[in-house]
Amino acid sequence: MNKKIAFIGVTGMLGKPVAKALHDAGFLITALVRDIESARKKVPAAIHLIPGDLKNEGDLKRLFVGKDVLYLNLSVKQTEKPGHWHSELEGIQLLLPLAKAAGIRRIVYLSSLVQNYQGTDGFNWWVFDIKLAAVKMIKEFGLPYTIFYPSTFMETILAQYKMGRFLLLSGESKHKQYFIAAQDYAKQVIKSLKVLNKENKEYVVQGPEALNSDEAIAEFKRNYSGGRLFILKAPPELVRFYGSFAQKMDYGYHVIQALNNYPEKFEADNTWKELGQPTITIKEFASKC
Ligand SMILES: NC(=O)c1ccc[n+]([C@@H]2O[C@H](COP(=O)([O-])OP(=O)(O)OC[C@H]3O[C@@H](n4cnc5c(N)ncnc54)[C@H](OP(=O)(O)O)[C@@H]3O)[C@@H](O)[C@H]2O)c1
Repeated sequence: MNKKIAFIGVTGMLGKPVAKALHDAGFLITALVRDIESARKKVPAAIHLIPGDLKNEGDLKRLFVGKDVLYLNLSVKQTEKPGHWHSELEGIQLLLPLAKAAGIRRIVYLSSLVQNYQGTDGFNWWVFDIKLAAVKMIKEFGLPYTIFYPSTFMETILAQYKMGRFLLLSGESKHKQYFIAAQDYAKQVIKSLKVLNKENKEYVVQGPEALNSDEAIAEFKRNYSGGRLFILKAPPELVRFYGSFAQKMDYGYHVIQALNNYPEKFEADNTWKELGQPTITIKEFASKC
């Protein structure tokens, strides 16, 4: 089994639960972190942390020594701009040959499903170009890979929709999304590491029920255990207007546009067959928040 994992992005919203689940399942994780003190507070003590930055070759070489698998939980941050250095572009470009030279046998990369909206209805966003380029680089590099394409994570309801007592929605959500809990996704990652050998695999990750954003937020509100919540709806024009001034709002506007308009189909049959079926619903997720 591929037991020793080099992890980049362990402090991320989705890095934390996946690293914890891998650790609980008996994998040995070493994570590269930029701020070791802050990272120590976020991840279990048994996860080995080494200080460093994905920008530095030397740090990557230290991370990769003696590891079997590299798990990537990277993102394009809301504050990044097109001309910046991007962890999912220049970072991946730098790490691939170093991982191969160090004897890493598999790259596991958390990608996204909604990026497939790129090019539909004239939608074009540089962030999705980066994410699509990352997939292409990994697939063409020549190391065995597992790429996961998840639908919307339930964790975003807490991290992005919820602001204090309010749940913020924008625009009309035309299509249903198969919301997935990080805990269910982590189980699939663990199973993949146990069963895969040298083959290349791509998995669509979708949860047990499909809801549009409005339905998901209402279901979360109904079942949230932490007190009363209120739903607020902002017109998309307002978000776009602020987007022309503020980079973060611009990012939010594009994410919302893509999520509201991407006609997500159920495509996770094979993932469920090979890696197990997710069970956590938004109701269950909310009741434990
Ligand atoms: N949200 C969803 O519903 C959803 C759905 C499908 C797919 N996804 C995908 O999931 C991925 C991960 O999301 P997330 O929310 O977990 O991302 P995140 O919270 O932004 O985490 C990014 C991680 O990368 C680390 N990092 C960034 N630059 C680095 C550098 N130069 N050196 C070392 N580490 C660096 C960050 O560390 P620091 O703590 O040092 O910043 C952080 O741990 C994204 O690509 C997203 O597209 C998300």
